[in-house]
Amino acid sequence: MNQPATKTLTTAKPFIEVLNGQKADHIPFWFMRQAGRYLPEYRELRASKKGFLDMAFNPDAACEITLQPIRRFGMDAAIIFSDILVIPYALGQALDFVEGEGPKLEPIRDAQALSKLGISQLEAKLSPVYEALSKVSGELDDKTALIGFAGAPWTVATYMVEGGSSRDFINVKKMAYGQPELFSSMINLLIESTAHYLIKQVEAGAEALQIFDSWSGALDSDEFRKWVIEPTRQIVDLVKDSHPTIPIIGFPKGAGYGYVPYAENTGVTALGLDSQVSTKWAARVLQPLMPVQGNLDPIALLTGGDALKLAVERVIGDLSGGPFVFNLGHGIHKDTPVEHVEELIGLLRS
Ligand code: CP3
Repeated sequence: MNQPATKTLTTAKPFIEVLNGQKADHIPFWFMRQAGRYLPEYRELRASKKGFLDMAFNPDAACEITLQPIRRFGMDAAIIFSDILVIPYALGQALDFVEGEGPKLEPIRDAQALSKLGISQLEAKLSPVYEALSKVSGELDDKTALIGFAGAPWTVATYMVEGGSSRDFINVKKMAYGQPELFSSMINLLIESTAHYLIKQVEAGAEALQIFDSWSGALDSDEFRKWVIEPTRQIVDLVKDSHPTIPIIGFPKGAGYGYVPYAENTGVTALGLDSQVSTKWAARVLQPLMPVQGNLDPIALLTGGDALKLAVERVIGDLSGGPFVFNLGHGIHKDTPVEHVEELIGLLRS
């Protein structure tokens, strides 16, 4: 029987191949917070909008901002322009991003405040994010992957209880340690809404997901199991029930030795490493378990020059022996010169 002529060109995306434990033709890279204030084209667009949420919930603007770094630098993945705090917002918590001060939320400190939140508005409020994802998905070439994301319940809860960014997390830890039942009901609401949100992002075109647990390092090891590992495992289970092959990157920033039980128990596909994780230790202990992503110190990128070159050589030297996605250990600092990002990409491509 005659076979129709088939294209032998592979359409596999290097970033996805590596997350699936396969070899790619180069080390794929993207940078956390690659869309944002270090880019002049972002600052220009931001000046024309009322505020952060006005951009994030405008599908055309969110699509444009997601694509800005890809046009300039050609990363292997685009991450949808949004924020982890859209979930509390969609659950009904008042949220504002104050220029220069970060996010401000009406703090939730008791059962009464918590009872006002719910999932009835979730779909309506989050649909612009799904619309933005499908727009971006239609614009990317066949080598560039699209990442959807959400905050992990613990990290999102820190903002919900503290009412914004925090140094010591006293209020949220007091609730977690002292009123575990109340705190559990908040975490359960976050598990349910976050899993739903991630599933819908996949349906809108996300090809991989990242779960940001930026403040997982604030907890002791028992509480880390309860509020970081367990909720993440439940979200991963729910997402994989709907989409069994979607790669999920877990980023338990600051977890230290907690990276090991996190890798062993959450079901994530890959681990995002923060800059404090030793790359030699990660190569020996974590990379045999699953692919890793990371972990250049964003301040080495801000510094540039020899400091940048040395740090990049160490990260690549230590981690490129196994499945590895190059990234930073945290988001790009807003004062990073664009030329340093160019320099870094030059190093990665050479
Ligand atoms: O990575 C990307 O390019 C995608 C977009 C993205 C944003 N926030 C846009 C944003 C992502 C993935 C996030 C995640 C996020 N948001 C995290 C987890 C990662 C981390 O940094 O630890 C956290 C903790 C937040 C919460 C948040 N959002 C804070 C504390 C702030 C204010 C401080 C800051 O960095 O500006 C934001 C605002 C925010 N989110 C901005 C951007 C581009 C700045 C908005 C602006 O003023 O233009």
